[in-house]
Amino acid sequence: MDDRYLTFALTKGRLADKTLAMLGELGISCEEMLDKNTRKLIFVNEDLKLKFFLSKGPDVPTYVEYGVADIGVVGKDTIMEEGRRAYEVLDLGFGKCRMCVCGPESARDKLEHHEMIKVASKYPRIAKDYFNNRKFQTIDIIKLNGSVELGPIVGLSDVIVDIVETGSTLKENGLTVLEEICPLSARMIVNQVSMKMQNERIQELIDNLRKLTEKNE
Ligand code: PRP
Repeated sequence: MDDRYLTFALTKGRLADKTLAMLGELGISCEEMLDKNTRKLIFVNEDLKLKFFLSKGPDVPTYVEYGVADIGVVGKDTIMEEGRRAYEVLDLGFGKCRMCVCGPESARDKLEHHEMIKVASKYPRIAKDYFNNRKFQTIDIIKLNGSVELGPIVGLSDVIVDIVETGSTLKENGLTVLEEICPLSARMIVNQVSMKMQNERIQELIDNLRKLTEKNE
């Protein structure tokens, strides 16, 4: 067997849990990670020569671009926002949601008439790209770090660009989806050099995971 480690950077939380469940179905597991109370961030499976890092989503593409992780699992939103170099090889089919422009009904007119609007978002790059390059509209972007729905409610912005999953956060705050930017889900990304150097091993993993996602559809 190849004596190099295959290293995964996983997005801490639900995405990592679901990824590990899928890998478990393929017989790839890591005993140490099953301890829910652990604060460890690196886990090793010596038998299978695997390593797992748990990190914040936006850092996953960074680890993969720099090659300290061969493989990453991260949301499409984060991939788009971070703009790092890596191959996106597989839609894992979970973590499905949508990136949307949201706001009060009253903001619809401003969007239609391409007025200069204020857009609050955790995703300034995605927001800017959508408005400038797809809608040819100039906007003011205000970067927020969470609870973005507050933006239009308190009068900081006209609309927000944010993730919508069930829609309940919007509903409970009197906001609505005004435009859909793109669908999102968890994706597997691969370092460009690793893809060449460990091609067989990584390709086999992609093929097996793809079969699982097809079965789960
Ligand atoms: C995300 C997103 C929305 C919410 C959407 O926030 O930013 O606020 O989930 O989900 P829903 O459509 O099912 O209500 P998250 O919970 O990650 O927290 P944050 O607001 O701190 O970013």
